[in-house]
Amino acid sequence: MSTTISRRIVVIGTGTGVGKTWLSCELLRALRAQGRRVLGLKPIESGVSDEAPTDGGLLADAALGDPERARALEIAAPYRLLEPISPHLAARRSGRSINVELALTYVQDCESAPLPGGPVEVSLVETAGGLFSPLDQNATNWDFARALDPSRWLLVAPDALGVLHDLTATLLAAGARGRAPDAIALCCARPQDASTGTNAAEVERLGVARRPFVFPDDGSAGIEALLANLLE
Ligand SMILES: Nc1ncnc2c1ncn2[C@@H]1O[C@H](COP(=O)(O)OP(=O)(O)OP(=O)(O)O)[C@@H](O)[C@H]1O
Ligand SMILES: [Mg+2]
Repeated sequence: MSTTISRRIVVIGTGTGVGKTWLSCELLRALRAQGRRVLGLKPIESGVSDEAPTDGGLLADAALGDPERARALEIAAPYRLLEPISPHLAARRSGRSINVELALTYVQDCESAPLPGGPVEVSLVETAGGLFSPLDQNATNWDFARALDPSRWLLVAPDALGVLHDLTATLLAAGARGRAPDAIALCCARPQDASTGTNAAEVERLGVARRPFVFPDDGSAGIEALLANLLE
């Protein structure tokens, strides 16, 4: 099915629990506040349970602000895996395997369905875990993100000790595969440590990447600048 989407944002991470969902929801709420018709999707998710909100549910709520429509979008995701382990293993242990093409089709189908008021203008897709987390024997999130091109890749990392290594390693590996992220953001997804607040400047000074956007606390200050970058 063809898609009329004008911009697709793919949120990738240096690992799990780095702030991808938190930042995605902030971006989606900011887009909605601008009056844009947006979608937030998590096609592949492990650790899905009734006990806690899923990332897919949080993203759909932030994007749509309509619980019924959001729930329908959330539960239509093709890979809602129960075990809180790597998606490739959660899939295998439930007798399934993850097909990147099927995940891509879900995204395209969601993008093609109009929202109240008109077609989807911006879609955001959160990947599961880190950029090189395995989805199957032969595919990682890098392959899924690549299948979602043309898009803008936002790499999220924690503003915490170890991030200089993790960003360097992720960017080196992505560069070796031939596709670098378009923007980088540091989130306070870990308890603060002595490096928190210093990392963005060091990333730039060490030549690891252009200075990342930083989200030091539970607020949306700075979100407009990141959005402008992602939509340019
Ligand atoms: N800037 C921030 N301010 C406050 N809390 C934050 C911020 N960024 C992340 N967090 C918190 O850090 C925790 C982990 O973030 P989040 O769930 O977004 O990570 P994730 O990368 O989406 O994880 P997963 O790999 O499980 O999808 C959450 O409790 C989230 O609320
Ligand atoms: Mg998440």
